[in-house]
Amino acid sequence: MSKKMIIAANWKMNKTCSEAESYFQQLKTQISPSTPHQALFFPSAVSLALCSQELAGTSIGFGAQNCHFEDSGAFTGEISAPMLQELKVTHTLVGHSERRHVFLETDDMIAKKVLALVKHGITPVLCVGEKEDEFIFGKTLERIRYQLNCGLKNIAPGSPLVIAYEPVWAIGTGRIPSSQDILMVHRDIRSHMIELWGDFGRSVPILYGGSVSAKNAKNIAALENVNGFLIGGASLKLESYLEIFNGL
Ligand code: PGA
Repeated sequence: MSKKMIIAANWKMNKTCSEAESYFQQLKTQISPSTPHQALFFPSAVSLALCSQELAGTSIGFGAQNCHFEDSGAFTGEISAPMLQELKVTHTLVGHSERRHVFLETDDMIAKKVLALVKHGITPVLCVGEKEDEFIFGKTLERIRYQLNCGLKNIAPGSPLVIAYEPVWAIGTGRIPSSQDILMVHRDIRSHMIELWGDFGRSVPILYGGSVSAKNAKNIAALENVNGFLIGGASLKLESYLEIFNGL
């Protein structure tokens, strides 16, 4: 496989700072500096300061799992884009399905977060994906186009952006869509991005996420318009992350 892939790890609410530290210390020695692939980590926010020291000078990117759209203010418990910018995060997740469905983030909030990140030089990783009933009733493409239209409405074509397609029903369940379905959705995201952004839409990386493992990664990676992965459970053990990363 010669195409350059982004292998992103979403740790969710897992790993303390010291656990993150030992993971990164080992990771750094095990990722070849000449790999064509980009390693990218989304640890808990409390580990981001550590990442900015531990990962400085490496090719490993990192960022937050969420942020607020205002720069500062009375928003207890929230983290802003300028705070992330100071820590030199490269990317940040926006609109992950758990943020949408557990924390009830709206498409409007997501669009504001995307803008806040872009304004501060951070690449948003905009997560989109259909729920199981939408999949069953053939509404997948319509849902994703809607989420893209809303999520991107505040930023200009050519802004830094990664898209992560994650079917909600595939996250943490061990179930994945068929290769044909993944191919169809990624192809549709690509054509929609070209409709929205013209030629800029051709180069936006589109990641697949949802029950990615060392067993299925290689087949999915071979599909057209799959430019990487967003991996939850299988990224928590270093060996399993590296098995995916090195297997591509
Ligand atoms: P999973 O999670 O790989 O454990 O399914 C993916 C995600 O939520 O980003």
